[in-house]
Amino acid sequence: MSTQQKKYMTITYGCQMNENDSERLSGQMKAMGLVEADQPDQADVIIINTCCVRESAERKIYGKIGDLKRLKAANPNLIIGIAGCMAQKDRDKLFKKAPHIDLVMGTHNIHQLSELLADIEKSRSKVLAVWDQAERMEPDVPTIRKNKVSAWVPITYGCNNFCSYCIVPYVRGREHSRPEGDILAEIRELGDNGFKEITLLGQNVNSYGKDCDGYPDFAGLLKAVDNIGNIARVRYMTSHPRDMNAAVIAAVRDGQKICEHFHLPVQSGSDAILAKMNRGYTTGDYRQVVGEIRAAIPHAALTTDIIVGFPGETEERFDETLEFVKTVEFDAAYTFLYSQRSGTPAADMPDQIPLAIKKERLTRLMNIQNESSLAINTRLKGQNLEVLIEGDSKNDANKMMGRTRTNKIVIWDKTGAEQIGQLADIVIETAQTWVLKGSLLRLL
Ligand code: 5AD
Ligand code: SF4
Repeated sequence: MSTQQKKYMTITYGCQMNENDSERLSGQMKAMGLVEADQPDQADVIIINTCCVRESAERKIYGKIGDLKRLKAANPNLIIGIAGCMAQKDRDKLFKKAPHIDLVMGTHNIHQLSELLADIEKSRSKVLAVWDQAERMEPDVPTIRKNKVSAWVPITYGCNNFCSYCIVPYVRGREHSRPEGDILAEIRELGDNGFKEITLLGQNVNSYGKDCDGYPDFAGLLKAVDNIGNIARVRYMTSHPRDMNAAVIAAVRDGQKICEHFHLPVQSGSDAILAKMNRGYTTGDYRQVVGEIRAAIPHAALTTDIIVGFPGETEERFDETLEFVKTVEFDAAYTFLYSQRSGTPAADMPDQIPLAIKKERLTRLMNIQNESSLAINTRLKGQNLEVLIEGDSKNDANKMMGRTRTNKIVIWDKTGAEQIGQLADIVIETAQTWVLKGSLLRLL
């Protein structure tokens, strides 16, 4: 492909795994000699990396694809590619829905972008590359990381859990673990290049290594990562509550760098709904794990995901979720309206909940959660917390922003001495639901 001065744009929807895939898409285009475009109308190649976990995401993406028709009309040489989860799910249907698309590439084909672009250039025709399931690990490809402090590092791909509402196992395939040596080598290189924080990524990181003899388990991997110099902080997501165990909790407690933040998606506070969701634990099991975490690491933060309006969620069952959220006390909860995903078992379950009821329940849930978030944050007033400096505050150039080890956003008045990527002690003076405000005590 003659790519001198050609420009690309990568547009990403969805989770951190998608963000990381997009870094690999951009990395391949950069390696081909393309440079990043500031505006879509300057781009010669636009790749949309997609999500299909909820219908709302899909609707937004189809809207975006529709918008690009205008650019294609103005520049018929523009190559438009649709990558990732929605591409995997909708495959060639996408060409029918949006004839101005040139490329559809699935979740297992991310590493093939350079060859696929070359194919399009050569054949001047549309290209579909959607493998059903990667036979082996996706080969490493160049990665461009926009954030120079924090980096994502995949450790597992796919999911075996088949929660009854979730499309992910169908579009990302069966779970497989990345070799430990590759993970540690990538993290060492990130440390050598000045990165301070890494987040280990997977749909269910706690089952790392189960699919391969000779690999460590997740606790073993955490310990190995904790020993890598230069890196200051290690995070991971997402954990399945059923697979959280004493060894992982001990690794977090004893590690120097592993952050004291547990993201454990509970999804519902009703045992009847959890069973229908095929989650493999009860609220009692979940409370037990939370008890173990808080006994071992009292200042650990706990966050969760909750789905509202799953089929069969009666008012009583929803009340159980409200009660659960009140009594467990999460630092934060990501709350979602249940979205029917065709092909998943829950989509065909009886007693689907009307949208208006789902929305009303979501508001009630968020109000209760916000009370917990504020109460927990208020207890932090007067404490000195270690913050990793991320940059200017989005809303005020006179302020800086960073995160605590427990993943809370902290804002303080800029002193001029701070540098991005540095650790600092900040004394907390004001607590809000989503943000802590304080003053810089010292740079570490
Ligand atoms: N509807 C609503 N939320 C969903 N999630 C996954 N599938 C669905 C769905 N069909 C949520 C879960 C998961 C988070 C990433 O997205 O809470 O933890
Ligand atoms: Fe989806 Fe459940 Fe797998 Fe998470 S664990 S990706 S919710 S199937």
